[in-house]
Amino acid sequence: DQFSHTPLKISNDDTGDVACDSYHKIEEDVEMLKSLKVSHYRFSISWSRILPDGTTSYINEMGLNYYERLIDALLAANIMPQVTLYHWDLPQALQNVGGWENDTIIQRFKEYAEVLFQRLGDKVKFWITLNEPYNTAYCGYGVGTAAPGISVRPGRAPYVVGHNLIRAHAEVWHLYNETYRAKQGGLISITINSDWAEPRNPHNQEDIDAARQYLQFFLGWFAHPIFKNGDYNEVMKTRIRERSLAQGLNQSRLPEFTESEKQRIKGTYDYFGLNHYTTCKLIGNKGKTGILITDRSWLNSGSFWLKVTPFGFRKILRWIKEEYNNPPIYVTENGISERGALDLNDTWRMHYYRSYVNEALKAVVLDGVDLRGYTAWTLMDNFEWAVGFDERFGFYHVNLTDPNLPRCPKASARYYSQIINCNGFPDPPLEMLFCHLHFLN
Ligand SMILES: *[C@@H]1O[C@H](CO)[C@@H](O)[C@H](O)[C@H]1NC(C)=O
Ligand SMILES: *[C@@H]1O[C@H](CO)[C@@H](O)[C@H](O)[C@H]1NC(C)=O
Ligand SMILES: *[C@@H]1O[C@H](CO)[C@@H](O)[C@H](O)[C@H]1NC(C)=O
Ligand SMILES: *[C@@H]1O[C@H](CO)[C@@H](O)[C@H](O)[C@H]1NC(C)=O
Ligand SMILES: *[C@@H]1O[C@H](CO)[C@@H](O)[C@H](O)[C@H]1NC(C)=O
Repeated sequence: DQFSHTPLKISNDDTGDVACDSYHKIEEDVEMLKSLKVSHYRFSISWSRILPDGTTSYINEMGLNYYERLIDALLAANIMPQVTLYHWDLPQALQNVGGWENDTIIQRFKEYAEVLFQRLGDKVKFWITLNEPYNTAYCGYGVGTAAPGISVRPGRAPYVVGHNLIRAHAEVWHLYNETYRAKQGGLISITINSDWAEPRNPHNQEDIDAARQYLQFFLGWFAHPIFKNGDYNEVMKTRIRERSLAQGLNQSRLPEFTESEKQRIKGTYDYFGLNHYTTCKLIGNKGKTGILITDRSWLNSGSFWLKVTPFGFRKILRWIKEEYNNPPIYVTENGISERGALDLNDTWRMHYYRSYVNEALKAVVLDGVDLRGYTAWTLMDNFEWAVGFDERFGFYHVNLTDPNLPRCPKASARYYSQIINCNGFPDPPLEMLFCHLHFLN
């Protein structure tokens, strides 16, 4: 709320005050989910709406009541809720004492999680502690493009924030494991986002090393401690230490875990939650940080960072299998944006889902990846952080100039429900017929 009301932070000075107004449209939104035929729906809970001052001294029952009604409506429709505890919405009172830079937040996060386990845990069987901690740390406290918009160089804050995010995740996982799992029987883990990194020349060792380094700094930052050994990967530890000393600091900007913290963090997962959209290419740079490029033959989207690169999806799934000892994987986000004039015949989105889902199928069938679930991003055009409403990821268009905020299906909505309905790909002629029928209706 505070960040989006700060001038120049968000495109067009858009805010999330009303956004899609799902707050008032539970029935309508659940109807959309039913017509898509999805088996589960992923949404997040706003910490600020539950604990407005960040502590349990006051619990906002109106906030909890909304989520209870949403969950009940989903369950009545036989749709399993997948609930994220933290999708970047922090009570301002906690930001005022340093937010994720202040390690007292670990205890606050645990208290917040406990309220939700107590109040919603009988109905919610799939929890995600943190969404994309990389973006909280790097975009929020590094480049400053996301809330709280902090940017101080040279960057120590992102690593302090990452450190607290990992410890907070681990504490909440243990809380659930020890106190709630036996009677509630759900799953709890974390969602990590990462692009795939491809060496520009797959036969050049420098390019290969640069791509690996990129992956370790992106996916590996959070995955290595949680899914491997409780500690940061060697690539990050070595590189950040070298850079810190070269900058005249007397120690690495990357904090260290104590031995007992490492034991506490290692293995705090029930599955690997992955958000994945795109791939980039890396050129080795004589041992320095690799040079990031893109391939001009890759198709564009409505977001500058998102190129249509389905092959990278299979590769990152396989990397996770091999690097982290074959964890069960749930893809919690995958999708494509558009911007500019509206075209409900979004064939490019159908192409994206067709080719990405096909690569996921290859990962399962040919590479033996233990992929258990897939969630597209996203149901309807939404408030997309710093770009406001400019970039639209939805299967449903939301008309923001109409005060009723009507939702209207794009062609991809029918295509996606067809994939779900067939549990696979429809025959090409059928698929075309299906599109035509939709538009004739
Ligand atoms: C960290 O938060 C606590 C309250 O939880 C506060 O007393 C303390 O001053 C904060 N530290 C900093 C550096 O802001
Ligand atoms: C999870 O909880 C169970 C039951 O209390 C316990 O046996 C197990 O060691 C815990 N797992 C971890 C990694 O702490
Ligand atoms: C590094 O320098 C800071 C002051 O800049 C000091 O507080 C800290 O103790 C030093 N750390 C080590 C490991 O020498
Ligand atoms: C949607 O676009 C595709 C590709 O441009 C075209 O073949 C198809 O006829 C269009 N469908 C409708 C209903 O306009
Ligand atoms: C959005 O709603 C406005 C106001 O009702 C209407 O004029 C406009 O045509 C609608 N746009 C679309 C794309 O449906």
